[in-house]
Amino acid sequence: MLQTILPEQFGELTEHETDARIREVRERLGRRLVILGHHYQRDEVIKFADVRGDSFKLAEWAANRKDAEYIVFCGVHFMAESADILSSANQKVVLPDMSAGCSMADMAAIDQVETCWNDLAGITPEKIVPITYMNSAANIKAFCGRNGGAVCTSSNASAVMRWALDRGDKVLFLPDQHLGRNTAYALGYRLDEMMVWDPYEELGGNTESEVSAARFILWKGHCSVHQRFLPQHVAEVRAKHPGIRVIAHPECRFEVTRLSDDVGSTEHIIKRVTEAPAGSKWAIGTEIHLVNRLRNENPDRLIIPLDDCGCLCSTMFRIDAPHLLWTLENLFEGRVVNQISVLPDVAASARIALNRMLEITN
Ligand code: 13P
Ligand code: SF4
Repeated sequence: MLQTILPEQFGELTEHETDARIREVRERLGRRLVILGHHYQRDEVIKFADVRGDSFKLAEWAANRKDAEYIVFCGVHFMAESADILSSANQKVVLPDMSAGCSMADMAAIDQVETCWNDLAGITPEKIVPITYMNSAANIKAFCGRNGGAVCTSSNASAVMRWALDRGDKVLFLPDQHLGRNTAYALGYRLDEMMVWDPYEELGGNTESEVSAARFILWKGHCSVHQRFLPQHVAEVRAKHPGIRVIAHPECRFEVTRLSDDVGSTEHIIKRVTEAPAGSKWAIGTEIHLVNRLRNENPDRLIIPLDDCGCLCSTMFRIDAPHLLWTLENLFEGRVVNQISVLPDVAASARIALNRMLEITN
């Protein structure tokens, strides 16, 4: 479904008027509404979130809280899809702007994944367990559910990978090669045990013997935001700010995560930085809105982005206060706009993979 153009009046309101109307309609909707917000959201939006979190925390919330009639998801499409799959049938999940997608999730299409799976089965009799990062479409999650696999997020990828290795000989990791590589390496596997599968090449760009030898088949996907952080940025911040600690999201390149002092999900980054002593110095390799928020909320620490390219997730950025207001006022008037509704058969298989993740993690 495409995003409809916002009625002009929403763009003409002042910030103050928009905020006042959001507060008012939110109050009127009361307990019928919950607003979930991912840490990369703008300040003008995240300030209205009832629950803030990383992908895992927000998915867990959707699985456990069956009371709100409307879940307005301030994040991106794959997160809202997961919330729809995990919430109950009477709850409606809404994304304030339908164009808030994720370029990484778009890098794995179901027909490409099916082709890869069939090719792999033709080469090796070994058992392959598919894992998909949360940042993937519902039909990729469903594929993993149908084929004995699971979903993971950046906060539980190690646990899910260990689980998969207990059950199979090889892991097919979708769609983020960097999270797959960083996680497998942290578990003690060598780079030469991993291969990359390029869906636009015959056999993913590999020979049959390379496929047979590999333990990890990493899908050739990446996050265009995190891929912009480079090893020289780590060297530069260290030279400029002696004693600075570098913390990176695991969607960053292997070379960057190896040079960093710490690696983890958005929730992990927030915990480390906020629990650190006053006066500590941090360079953070993740989306700029989270870095700026941490800096503003912790003025007694030096907090800078790992690179000043202004790494912005342009799709997270699509959710703004006027779209939130438009969504809420429509809900209040009984019109459910931008509902995210995963097809029942896809949802049933995807739920298996998501629930496996929740079981492994808890
Ligand atoms: P987290 O699960 O760490 O919040 O990451 C989500 C995401 O999309 C990062 O790009
Ligand atoms: Fe997708 Fe990257 Fe944006 Fe996360 S930061 S939602 S992976 S494009």
